Amino acid sequence: MYIVDRTVRFARGFMLSYGPTGIKKRLWDKEFSGTKWDFIDNTVGDCVYPYLEKYAKNGSILDLGCGPGNTANELDADVYQSYTGVDISEAALAKAVKRTRESGRTGKNTFVNSDFLGYEPPQDFDIILFRESLYHVPYGQVLPILKKFSKHLKSDGVFIVRLYAGDHRPGVIKTRVTAKLDLIRREFAVIESRQFDLPAFPNVFVFRPRG
Ligand SMILES: C[S@@+](CC[C@H](N)C(=O)[O-])C[C@H]1O[C@@H](n2cnc3c(N)ncnc32)[C@H](O)[C@@H]1O
Repeated sequence: MYIVDRTVRFARGFMLSYGPTGIKKRLWDKEFSGTKWDFIDNTVGDCVYPYLEKYAKNGSILDLGCGPGNTANELDADVYQSYTGVDISEAALAKAVKRTRESGRTGKNTFVNSDFLGYEPPQDFDIILFRESLYHVPYGQVLPILKKFSKHLKSDGVFIVRLYAGDHRPGVIKTRVTAKLDLIRREFAVIESRQFDLPAFPNVFVFRPRG
């Protein structure tokens, strides 16, 4: 039973990252239709916010894999002018839109239902954020996707990546996650990076294209 359960979970995790868009969308919608992800509805005080506040410069933010609107509504409204959240899950976006209406930020926050791997932004941004969403980009697609979105950074714009290096198991670091952070260190100009000594070791990386 344990082996069957583990195999099903592995297959599901694999499809969430590697599946075709239609299947990923259905799976993510199912994830957000239940209560599994309710814990990210309130992430006030998260370690990524000081970085967003520092680099937003009262400008524009693109949030790839934005989820249920936590970043869009918890970030200090005075530090940014416009925010675009992209997510593959309509269920997550329904929550994001509702929360944005309730917080009175409809003039600032916009949401797009899309697989970010194929998304073409209509403008350039001060910040392009992957908050716990780069985890779901297959390793082989990390560099191509960052290069593609590099073209949509303003000249002094930055990528911000927040990524747990571990999981619920105390002290465990996942090499398939740290390999993505190593790739960023190798290929980009890292402005600042920090691994926080918090459960599951969240990392925040701020970087831009070299040159
Ligand atoms: C772990 S949740 C993180 C949500 C939010 N950014 C946060 O940190 O609280 C990952 C999010 O990425 C979205 N996602 C995963 N793969 C995606 C893809 N290929 N295109 C767009 N969104 C994706 C999921 O629907 C989900 O909302």
